[in-house]
Amino acid sequence: MAEQDKKGKEHIVQEFGELQPVRIGLSEDVRAKSVRALNRMLAHTMAMRDAYKKAHWQTAGATFYELHLLFDKHYEEQAELMDSIAERIQTLGGVTVALPGDVASESEIARGPRGRETARAQLDRLANGHEKILLDARPLAREADDAGDDGTNDLIVSEIVRTNELQSWFIVQHLSRHSELGDTPAK
Ligand SMILES: [Fe+2]
Repeated sequence: MAEQDKKGKEHIVQEFGELQPVRIGLSEDVRAKSVRALNRMLAHTMAMRDAYKKAHWQTAGATFYELHLLFDKHYEEQAELMDSIAERIQTLGGVTVALPGDVASESEIARGPRGRETARAQLDRLANGHEKILLDARPLAREADDAGDDGTNDLIVSEIVRTNELQSWFIVQHLSRHSELGDTPAK
């Protein structure tokens, strides 16, 4: 083990994947399952937040101003969502994923190109990210509901699903406009 890692280890009070005892009337099994689900949602959300900031900085072309503003608005909303998910994980007694390397291994949304893409490709990539989150989120919400974890179910449905559906609507509207403008789609 590298000297650096050993040093960090001495100060760890809870390993990633371990649960702290909490008093919210949910069994350890249920909490462990919800923490795993929420950490996946958290990684996706952090990846979307960063994808929006990248798009905000790097966008260009005829729709520059509106996309520049829209991407930053969605960035802020994803950042808010990230905080709600992370605090739910800690409430359940879990440990959140937090650093970019961990997010990249947990969410494929985090793995995009370093280069600057066309506005059309940015929109495509963001629409795909929202859809990926929604496809993952709905079954996880149903599992939390079946397990009796109403708080996690509510967070996934009323915050994660609703925010991503709404943002997807805005992105897809811009996407159809870019198709009309004749921009080439993402490869
Ligand atoms: Fe900015």
